[in-house]
Amino acid sequence: MYGREFAEIYDLIHRGRGKDYHAEAAFVADLIRERAPHARSLVDIACATGAHLVAFAELFDEVAGVEISEPMVQVARKKFDGEVVHLGDMRAFDLGRGFDALTCMFGSIGHTMSEAELDETLACFARHLNPGGVLVVDPWWFAETFTDGYIAGDVVEVEGLTVARVSHAIRAGDKSRMEVHYTVARPEGITHFAETYLASLYSRQQYEEAFTRVGLRADYLPGVQNGRGAFVAAKH
Ligand SMILES: C[S@@+](CC[C@H](N)C(=O)[O-])C[C@H]1O[C@@H](n2cnc3c(N)ncnc32)[C@H](O)[C@@H]1O
Repeated sequence: MYGREFAEIYDLIHRGRGKDYHAEAAFVADLIRERAPHARSLVDIACATGAHLVAFAELFDEVAGVEISEPMVQVARKKFDGEVVHLGDMRAFDLGRGFDALTCMFGSIGHTMSEAELDETLACFARHLNPGGVLVVDPWWFAETFTDGYIAGDVVEVEGLTVARVSHAIRAGDKSRMEVHYTVARPEGITHFAETYLASLYSRQQYEEAFTRVGLRADYLPGVQNGRGAFVAAKH
């Protein structure tokens, strides 16, 4: 999942589908500053091509990203000078310093495959927060809100490319399994590829209990981020 062909069109497809990374980053920055008005450093975990990071860099003095997919990291690194984007695993990374804010957006946390992995990941997040720091997690769908058999499709025309994307997602035990097919038309010809994404369907309560286990008290904001909601937690 999250291979080279997807990394190459990631920004275009999301922009074409109307996802507004700058507006999302501004919303998240407001959530952070309500709780930590002087926050000046931020790290975005599972940052993919760095689309939120570019916007966060306009709102915070210092930003960094962590991402496990090498092709995503390669695309993200082209957007920044210096060592901003780190290849790493959200379950066990060590940047050797703390940040005033940490974000994990667009359901990426769902790629932890068990409650034990969720705990390791949140503990790792908490270790990277300075005292008074704020964590914002835009979770994957909850077990109770996921739509089994959800299908979607878009055709986007951007920057000389036409991309058709169709997706199908099912519940497989305590996970969602989403298959996405992409057909990309370029002046040179048409290519096709598919990716499959497995994500854990934790309940809201499972998330809340996991935050508590790592010593964070999280508030949940329902309805935001396309309906998935957001958890906002502060480290005291
Ligand atoms: C749905 S995408 C979201 C990316 C980005 N946050 C955004 O809002 O566009 C999920 C991302 O999580 C990354 N990812 C999955 N497992 C990871 C892990 N264990 N550590 C770090 N990144 C991971 C994937 O490679 C992918 O880029």
